[in-house]
Amino acid sequence: MSEVAGPPGTSKEALAGKKVYSLSEAKDHTTEEDCWVVIFGKVYDVTKFLDEHPGGYDIILTNTGQDATESFEEIGHSNAARELLDKYYIGEYEGGPAPAEKPKKKQTVSAPSAVDRIPVLKLLQVLLPIIVAGLAYMIFFGGATGK
Ligand code: HEM
Repeated sequence: MSEVAGPPGTSKEALAGKKVYSLSEAKDHTTEEDCWVVIFGKVYDVTKFLDEHPGGYDIILTNTGQDATESFEEIGHSNAARELLDKYYIGEYEGGPAPAEKPKKKQTVSAPSAVDRIPVLKLLQVLLPIIVAGLAYMIFFGGATGK
């Protein structure tokens, strides 16, 4: 029985399931003749794309052998560029997807309240209970002694 070959570019492993590559495997493909990139938790063989890359081949070469997601995102690549990636997909990256953007620092200092901003209000906050207590005292004892 003869073996049925898959479509071009699909290895047996790829047909059986997704191939998972480690960073050290990706690091073996960092030359102009054999260039892989790791972007969005996936591995792409972009050797044939190097010469076509509008940003130049050298910038891709400097981003091989590492997770290039951040560099790829920083450029602000178009959707067309993202879709182009599919063409060069060879497998999944063992390390999973990297966060495209560093999480922005949350603002921990909350805005001061009106009481903190206006000193008179702060003073009133202290004085008001004293005034109310004083008035209550005067009404109670004043009323008691008046009659
Ligand atoms: C390997 C997969 C990549 C693909 C398929 C790809 C595709 C493209 C495409 C189609 C463009 C034209 C502009 C656009 O449509 O956004 C572009 C421009 C560019 N790319 Fe990539 N790129 C890849 C990786 C990278 C990486 C890793 C870097 C590293 C920083 C990079 C840096 C650039 C730069 C600097 C430009 C030029 C932007 C400009 O002229 O404004 N690319 N790329």
